[in-house]
Amino acid sequence: MAQFVHYVYILSAALFILSLRWMNHPATARRGVFAGEFGMILAISGTFMAFDVHNWTWILSAFLIGTAAGIPIAYIMPMTAVPQRTAMSHACGALAAALVGTAEFYQRQPHASTELTGFVMVALIVETLLGFLTFTGSLMAMGKLQEVLPQRPITYPKQNVVNLVLFVVALGLGIRLMLVPTDTYLFPIFAGIALLFGVLLIIPIGGADMPTVIALLNSYAGLSACAMGFALDNKLLIIAGALDGSSGLILSIIMCKAMNRSFTNVLFGAFGQIQASAVKTEKRPVRSASPEEAASILESAGKVIIVPGYGLAVAQAQHKIRELFDNLTRRGVDVKFAIHPVAGRMPGHMNVLLAEADIPYDRLYEMDDINGEFPQCDVALVIGANDVTNPAARTDKSSPIYGMPILDVDKAHTVMVIKRSMSPGFAGIDNDLYYMDKTLMLFGDAKAFVSEILKELPAKAAA
Ligand code: TAP
Repeated sequence: MAQFVHYVYILSAALFILSLRWMNHPATARRGVFAGEFGMILAISGTFMAFDVHNWTWILSAFLIGTAAGIPIAYIMPMTAVPQRTAMSHACGALAAALVGTAEFYQRQPHASTELTGFVMVALIVETLLGFLTFTGSLMAMGKLQEVLPQRPITYPKQNVVNLVLFVVALGLGIRLMLVPTDTYLFPIFAGIALLFGVLLIIPIGGADMPTVIALLNSYAGLSACAMGFALDNKLLIIAGALDGSSGLILSIIMCKAMNRSFTNVLFGAFGQIQASAVKTEKRPVRSASPEEAASILESAGKVIIVPGYGLAVAQAQHKIRELFDNLTRRGVDVKFAIHPVAGRMPGHMNVLLAEADIPYDRLYEMDDINGEFPQCDVALVIGANDVTNPAARTDKSSPIYGMPILDVDKAHTVMVIKRSMSPGFAGIDNDLYYMDKTLMLFGDAKAFVSEILKELPAKAAA
């Protein structure tokens, strides 16, 4: 049986790796999700086969409670709230790892001299330290994104020093417990400091950086699970935790690069404060246009690039955009979509929305692949995107988004921007794009405005 369980675990690990690989592209993402789910079913079944289960009641109760909570959350949660939902998942995963570590520590305690070896203690301390701090850190991130907590960075003098001291104390207590596991009275203090550290680590970070922080917390939760694998001598946990830990880290690095930010700047820069002071309230004239005018420009265009952003998700305009895509394509217009890596509020946000409306994947272009096409495009239609099109990122050294790679929308012949007002985007700054002679502002809700454009564009039968 033990041999068989090993094979099941290897198959499960292979499915996890394939799942990550397939989730890299919208065309194979669905397959990736199924592979991950099947891998998890195999992993759980293998674990049940490998160990004697003494109490099915507890396991089945936990299974039912988790399912009863998870299914409605998945259905009810709007796409715009996915970052906070992800933070909630990390909080639960990290708490589970920390509690398993705590249970292991106390359960093995009476036999400390024989069972709690130095190696197991190192694994348990890493597991619980990362687990507890990720639990409270993820709750803080969730609270900020849900606006239950203030989005702005909460700062006070010598904050980084306080955090560093706290971390060193937690680490010191952990090392003491590794050396003398029988000092059980230290464990609750150690756990309490780790929980407090998670709170204090996240509160100085602004809401704008929360998606990056969530990817980083994902990585911590994965590392905690990996350490749990060492403590429990479970190879699949080690592999799955390492995959989770490394993919979370890679994702946060990709996000930092896409925003031209460094890790230290995200974690210790209190970015939201810079934003607030950088908000400009200039009143410069802009050119606006009606749905009728917009429709006639689109109708006569040869090539249109649509640039979706967070506002598209807020308005849930993806299905209307699909109708617009179909309509223009039938007229012989070449329509493409330009996807910025941090458009929206989470990695892949725009891809998921557009996939929901069945927009063909081969019409979706990543920033580096499409930027060269803007100078040859008749119309760049920006829908609810702001920061990712702001030319200040290229030229204005004082701008908080200076250096962030952007979509070269300003190089198109005509630019049309659908948004409700002149309000700034997530970075809280004005956008020079809106004041250019070639730009037409289409003021309104993205879904409503696209519907109005469609009314002005009589449907054309498929060729
Ligand atoms: P934003 O710069 O946030 O701009 C979104 C725009 O949508 C706003 O200016 C808003 O203007 C408009 N809007 C909101 N609701 C709308 C509606 N119902 N209809 C039409 N327009 C609507 O979005 P972006 O261009 O997608 O940039 C993303 C930002 O998030 C970047 O600053 C990025 O750094 C940050 N961020 C993203 C990520 C990831 S991974 N995606 C991670 C961290 C940070 P009005 O209010 O005037 O309508």
